[in-house]
Amino acid sequence: MVESSRSLGYDRADWASAFRNVGTELTALPLQASRGQIPAGLQGTLYRNGPGRLERSGRWLHHPFDGDGMITALRFAPEGVTLTNRFVRTEGWLAEEAADQFLYRGVFGSQKPGGAVANAFDLRLKNIANTHVVQLGDQLLALWEAAEPHALDPDTLETRGLSLLDGVLKPGEAFSAHPRFDPGHHGAPRMVTFGVKTGPRSTVRLMEFATEDDPATGVKAGQLLSERRDSFNGFAFLHDFAITPNWAVFLQNAIAFNPLPFVLGQKGAAQCLQSQPGGKARFWLIPRDSGAYAGQPPRIIEAPDGFVFHHLNAWEEGETVAVESIYYADFPSIGPDVDFRSVDFDLLPEGLLEQCRINLADGTVSTIRLSERCCEFAMVNPEREGLPCRYGWMAVAERDTGNDPLQAIKKLDLLSGERRVWSAAPRGFVSEPLMVPRAGASAEDDGWVLCLIWNGARCASDLVILDAASMEELAVLELPLAIPYGLHGSFVPA
Ligand code: CO
Repeated sequence: MVESSRSLGYDRADWASAFRNVGTELTALPLQASRGQIPAGLQGTLYRNGPGRLERSGRWLHHPFDGDGMITALRFAPEGVTLTNRFVRTEGWLAEEAADQFLYRGVFGSQKPGGAVANAFDLRLKNIANTHVVQLGDQLLALWEAAEPHALDPDTLETRGLSLLDGVLKPGEAFSAHPRFDPGHHGAPRMVTFGVKTGPRSTVRLMEFATEDDPATGVKAGQLLSERRDSFNGFAFLHDFAITPNWAVFLQNAIAFNPLPFVLGQKGAAQCLQSQPGGKARFWLIPRDSGAYAGQPPRIIEAPDGFVFHHLNAWEEGETVAVESIYYADFPSIGPDVDFRSVDFDLLPEGLLEQCRINLADGTVSTIRLSERCCEFAMVNPEREGLPCRYGWMAVAERDTGNDPLQAIKKLDLLSGERRVWSAAPRGFVSEPLMVPRAGASAEDDGWVLCLIWNGARCASDLVILDAASMEELAVLELPLAIPYGLHGSFVPA
């Protein structure tokens, strides 16, 4: 355990107690609010994805991001709330369950038993389906960006198997874990997403899918509506992107990939990424087929230094494309000799929300910082995705500056800087908050924020429901389930 010179606002044992295996799979278990009242207007299903298996036969993964995907579904209906959770039955999970040991290496540095000798030249990827979960047509898709999605039953969460999306994907084709949902900028809503094939040159495949049936045209939900491929110089590490009505906005971080330690069995593939100080980060703006610049080549514009995993939102204002992103001073990686459970937060850069305004007329970019508080997992009202927004909701650290675990949820007024914070500190730790608009609402902040909390006092997970406008706590549901820190999720209205 790392000693810190400052007094922490949390207990490291509480924080680390979330790192464990999910031991049970529940089916439609009825739940009651432990505190408060579940809002009557909240109807639909909250889906969460994240690593649910971190240890086998006493051997720990090197990084939780290498853990097998486990889906949690909380269904809000007039008759009450139910909880279902299932591991995604990936090929790797099934084989490792049967063998009771890790049989694959992980991208973030987890190794098979037997050291470098056993791991060298084993370049197989285990599709762990652990990063995001979204509904497309009649399937739930468990996403992992380096390979195709797993299709699940939206009600039971039973795994149907790998999906090529009706022949859209080739077997093993990369399919991002960060789709963006266009609320209908050019008519019907769409799911916009991408896949990257990377190397000395990288190719981005941009895809747009229908999310609703359209009886007039015969288009079915889940159908591919348009796609394009664009190639760029350099290695691309693209985890997320942003959309506006006319553009898909990518940020190519200034990062290099040296695969040798991965091939030789010394490091995971993601541990071979290294930021290049003074290197050339670039925005890649790809015209959307539904927009005003359809068919034109991409615009490539130099971007400021820093490393980005996630964007908040993007929008257009005349000749300007603005994109808001969470910037790190450097690529935050955990070296081969460090146990993730004893990581020193003070040695890692914090995520800071910044806004870049890209002037398409002259190619210049200006940047402002929107907040000094460490944050991650930010979103706007999903009905305003791609438009100028007044508010963002995000997970933040408890203290105002510096890096710390995420313990609070912040609503930030992006224009005035005013903020409202709900905190789970000192014993609670938050995951990605989801803003769910109230059906028929007109105000941008009319709705709820749903978030799974790691409750260190109970050593289990709570669901907290906040009023999205006031950030007041409306209800807490204590789940009979201990879910490690998760990644992404979505809300599907009833
Ligand atoms: Co992500």
